[in-house]
Amino acid sequence: MVKRVSDNSERRLKGLARRHGTPLVAISRSGLMRQLERFHQALLRVEPFYAVKANAHPDVLKTFVAAGACFDVASVAEARAVLAAGAKPARCIFANTIKPVAAIAEARKLGVDLMTFDSEYELDKIADRAPGSRVIVRIKVPNVGSIVELSLKFGTEPADALALLIKAHKMGLVPAGVSFHVGSQCTRIENYLQALEMAAIIIRDSRLKQLPLEILDIGGGFPIRHFDDEEDPFDGAAQTIAQEIDRLFDANVRVIAEPGRFLVGPAATLILRVIGKAIRENKHWYYLDDGVYGALSGQIFDHAKYQFKVTRKGRRQLSTLAGPTCDSLDIVATGEDLPELELGDIVYVENIGAYSVATATCFNGVPPAKVVMVP
Ligand SMILES: Cc1ncc(COP(=O)(O)O)c(C=O)c1O
Repeated sequence: MVKRVSDNSERRLKGLARRHGTPLVAISRSGLMRQLERFHQALLRVEPFYAVKANAHPDVLKTFVAAGACFDVASVAEARAVLAAGAKPARCIFANTIKPVAAIAEARKLGVDLMTFDSEYELDKIADRAPGSRVIVRIKVPNVGSIVELSLKFGTEPADALALLIKAHKMGLVPAGVSFHVGSQCTRIENYLQALEMAAIIIRDSRLKQLPLEILDIGGGFPIRHFDDEEDPFDGAAQTIAQEIDRLFDANVRVIAEPGRFLVGPAATLILRVIGKAIRENKHWYYLDDGVYGALSGQIFDHAKYQFKVTRKGRRQLSTLAGPTCDSLDIVATGEDLPELELGDIVYVENIGAYSVATATCFNGVPPAKVVMVP
């Protein structure tokens, strides 16, 4: 769906495009801070560990470091990036349940000693390369209806979690907690509710076994709005999650989360220009200077759908938008209601800060979009 913009933001976008060129991703610092603040306000008891994979731009990391956030890193490269941005290793969790042995050793050398796991094999690796680490068991939970499914590949059966934690203890590791991920862009609150119940049972049982778990990690998945006519799905969901946390977990449990999309998604806008135009089968096709191999890669990897907006006014007709590469996969929208666009016109997408530039390639020699920070 395409909408025209207000004159103010139209002028601002055109100015940014003129100054920096296109394709351009403009990340708003105040937008990042607003999302972090919304998270804190809605989930008072939950400490956010920003999931760096969503967008690892150094200025995003620095903004969150300055705001006192913690970090979820999925690799040594991400750990180095957050430490370079000024974070302390004690504020990081290595939240990838399957890690190369060298990465485990290196993370430990960097001072990151809190890690997730979901199998005995991983415990062997951690005990060998990072003895004494604090470990969090990730359980498989329902991901029903979430846009990105994350429990197919990861998570032990909840019934096996306690046995794994006991094994960790026997191996000299510190059983620290239980984690889950309900799937990314999760709008089905039942996923969280069921996962919280499962985690509560594991924490209760760990106390019975004299191995009290200190941490509940509720993962990521917090949803954002992509289209102007949708209701924002976060606040209602967060209120219910907060209530359930209070009902199920006493104050001895430290609750953390790994939000990625929610903290960066709404803070960025992608600005593109029309670089080519054709009429095919009686329909206008507009070719843009970035596509699914670039900052719109979320359409493939993140299963994302975006709202394309234009600055030009005029009578609308059904049109197609395509990216700049030679691949027919690189068609970004086929049913857009657009005025007739001209070469050089601006097309833009808001709410595109997560899983966009993070998964961009240089296919066809098209360089990734430039990223700038704006106030
Ligand atoms: C382990 C883990 N934590 C956190 C996240 C971030 O999820 P989201 O961006 O949905 O908040 C992901 C996403 O893939 C993940 O795999």
